[in-house]
Amino acid sequence: EQWKTPYESIGGEEMIAKLVEAFYNRVAKHPDLKPIFPDDLTETARKQKQFLTQYLGGPPLYTEEHGHPMLRARHLPFEITPTRAKAWLACMREAMDEVGLSGQVRDEFYQRLVLTAQHMINTPENDR
Ligand code: HEM
Repeated sequence: EQWKTPYESIGGEEMIAKLVEAFYNRVAKHPDLKPIFPDDLTETARKQKQFLTQYLGGPPLYTEEHGHPMLRARHLPFEITPTRAKAWLACMREAMDEVGLSGQVRDEFYQRLVLTAQHMINTPENDR
């Protein structure tokens, strides 16, 4: 199986589901993130599972239901500062640790998320 997608390599639907649950459990408690997220993260988590599935080369679940992701545009209603991007990534690293996602596939996935998170920043720190 030389040409597995990252989606398949990390363990497909089951791993994405575990990762996203572990991630939003942290987001819900993080002082920098909690204020901008809804109290009920059920729908957010459902969309994130769809998104990460296609981001990693699995079926295009997000686009099928919501159209083009336009992620930066969808984040514009929220003040995404460098601090919040760091917090988001910290929650993701801890979630990856919790679910036992490791090795090269984790490192490559995480590095892509760092770039995507940087791209979401739309507010300088001193505006907060
Ligand atoms: C939605 C924050 C980075 C993917 C959201 C929402 C917030 C948020 C507040 C709205 C939640 C809701 O109303 O349900 C942040 C912050 C980030 C960040 C602070 C720090 C940089 C990312 C990254 C990705 C991502 C790196 C993808 C790899 C998504 C998706 C949604 C979302 C798919 C759902 C969009 C929709 O409504 O259809 N994010 N986000 N976010 N975020 Fe982020």
